[in-house]
Amino acid sequence: MVVKLRPEIAAMQAYRQGRPAAADAFKLSSNESPFPPLPAVMEAISGSSLHRYPDAAATVLRGRLAEKVGVDVDEVHTGSGSVALLQQLILAAAGPGDEVVYAWRSFEAYPLLVTVSGATSIQVPIRADGANDLEAMAEAITDRTRVIIVCTPNNPTSAIVTHDEFTAFMAKVPETVLVLLDEAYAEFVTDPDAVHGIPLLPRYPNLVVLHTFSKAYGLAGMRVGYAIGQKYILDAARSTAIPFSVTEPAQRAALAALDNEPELLGRVQTLIERREGIAAALAAQGWNIPAAQGNFVWLPTGEQTADAGEVLEAHGIVARVFHPDGIRVSVGEEESVEKLLAATAVVVETLRETP
Ligand SMILES: Cc1ncc(COP(=O)(O)O)c(C=O)c1O
Repeated sequence: MVVKLRPEIAAMQAYRQGRPAAADAFKLSSNESPFPPLPAVMEAISGSSLHRYPDAAATVLRGRLAEKVGVDVDEVHTGSGSVALLQQLILAAAGPGDEVVYAWRSFEAYPLLVTVSGATSIQVPIRADGANDLEAMAEAITDRTRVIIVCTPNNPTSAIVTHDEFTAFMAKVPETVLVLLDEAYAEFVTDPDAVHGIPLLPRYPNLVVLHTFSKAYGLAGMRVGYAIGQKYILDAARSTAIPFSVTEPAQRAALAALDNEPELLGRVQTLIERREGIAAALAAQGWNIPAAQGNFVWLPTGEQTADAGEVLEAHGIVARVFHPDGIRVSVGEEESVEKLLAATAVVVETLRETP
């Protein structure tokens, strides 16, 4: 006898993380911070009472975040990474027979999380400039739509949604539909026209904004993210959560990161400047890439993607290869830039030669 599994789960391919790199290569495949944790973070973690369960409500951390953002503590919810929050919020609002709308290509966890919830994915192609096509996403709304995920900057294309695009979109979304604004890379955004979700929360009661400590704060390994939104929506998410999943070391690390925010945001500034340098060099090589606003750039290599990935790898760059669309390359160590640009110079020639 064979155990009967849910067929849609059995058919799923589990989330695949960015490939590790050999010792002499740079791992630019997971949009991680290239900077090691601050000593203050390491020290904070070492004080953890590992024989005890953590504070399941992450009270101190939520209090600090509420203060930082200017909301009530119950309007903040923490999770073991923003991916956990995405799952909880989808589970809270959508189930079998319901639809979840999001852009594609976007963050690879979205289709998996929707399938797990039992709901149906409605994938709306991204625009030619790499951004979420909010006009088309609004048109995709039906009476079965329960959740819409907007990703800005979009992973993997790094393109933003503007404030005006977002407010025009929200005007078309029924208030009964939950809108998740995934701002995992918010701290890297410099475009003055970009949307920022938190100031818009009072205007849109169906909006929840997602942030993370994984990227700008360099704590991907600790797994802490936070959602800001209406209490009753976050309470529903809390009900779907696995208790105690934000551990005490994770809570302590996040608090230490907040204590040392200026230093961490200084690192973000360094990465922004590095990103701008890479983007300018790529343009000079003849690349036409979406305006990069995350800690990563998108190389639209199309049918040449698999081969281009090998060229990058031969130059010591392990990136995220999405054949036949393109390659996402994280902005990493300073020494990685020269190797990356040597590889892209080769790839752009191949692209020129292929009809
Ligand atoms: C758009 C987007 N959202 C959410 C996440 C999840 O991040 P975490 O669970 O580490 O907070 C990622 C990670 O790559 C991402 O790219």
